Amino acid sequence: MAALLDVKNLGISFGGLRAVNGFDITIEKEELYGLIGPNGAGKTTVFNLLTGVYRPDTGKVLLDGEDITGKKIIDISKAGIARTFQNIRLFKKMSVLDNVKAGLHNNHHYSTVEGILRLPRYRKVEKEMDEKAMDLLKVFDLDSVADYQAANLPYGQQRKLEIARALATDPKLLLLDEPAAGMNPNETEELMDMIRFVREQFHMTILLIEHDMKLVSGICEKLTVLNFGEVLAQGTTDKVLNDPQVITAYLGE
Ligand SMILES: Nc1ncnc2c1ncn2[C@@H]1O[C@H](COP(=O)(O)OP(=O)(O)O)[C@@H](O)[C@H]1O
Ligand SMILES: [Mg+2]
Repeated sequence: MAALLDVKNLGISFGGLRAVNGFDITIEKEELYGLIGPNGAGKTTVFNLLTGVYRPDTGKVLLDGEDITGKKIIDISKAGIARTFQNIRLFKKMSVLDNVKAGLHNNHHYSTVEGILRLPRYRKVEKEMDEKAMDLLKVFDLDSVADYQAANLPYGQQRKLEIARALATDPKLLLLDEPAAGMNPNETEELMDMIRFVREQFHMTILLIEHDMKLVSGICEKLTVLNFGEVLAQGTTDKVLNDPQVITAYLGE
């Protein structure tokens, strides 16, 4: 069976800086995979390359067998990659519910979300979208604040809302850029449970960038460590976290 994401030799330079070089990763369906590494290692740049923000100058990206290398953001979104951002991006003036509905607009086909929620066919589209959005909000304990303006949510809830909106596009692959950044330990714990739940309930494949080593070792089955734009180590979480090179370059800092 083909991997869900298969990346070979991905690279990009900014001026004289080789931000990502020779990057390979293979992610199987429903895997929960972590991308770690020091600040400036190139992690967010990898996400930007995978989602069409930047066009790679080397390499190839296959999503579920489809070549999406160098495609535009909108086409990659349609192909099935959704993401969240290191610095949260929401429609701040819109309601929590409408932020999730904005994600649903991308999605006209029969979907996993639809399948799981088993919506009656006779409902009008808008009502259907309200319900889908509310169901997603419930997953993240945000249903009680559905009418709030997004900007008025506490930080931890904004992070969760961004994940809910990404899921609303019914992606094949969900990319999370430091989802626990700025969260307190309780919020982080809760977020870990939610990420696990999302993987199980939506049969989602997830690649997450994270600094919080507790989060990474607690939920990721596999890890890739980036250092100066290159893969330093790759494999099962246990193996990678015990790799002496990784301990020196990253964990020992
Ligand atoms: N658009 C850009 N123009 C120039 N340099 C960039 C750009 N985006 C990222 N970089 C550089 O690429 C390197 C990797 O950045 P980034 O991917 O954000 O690292 P990380 O997410 O691992 O902290 C950094 O040196 C950063 O300054
Ligand atoms: Mg980053």
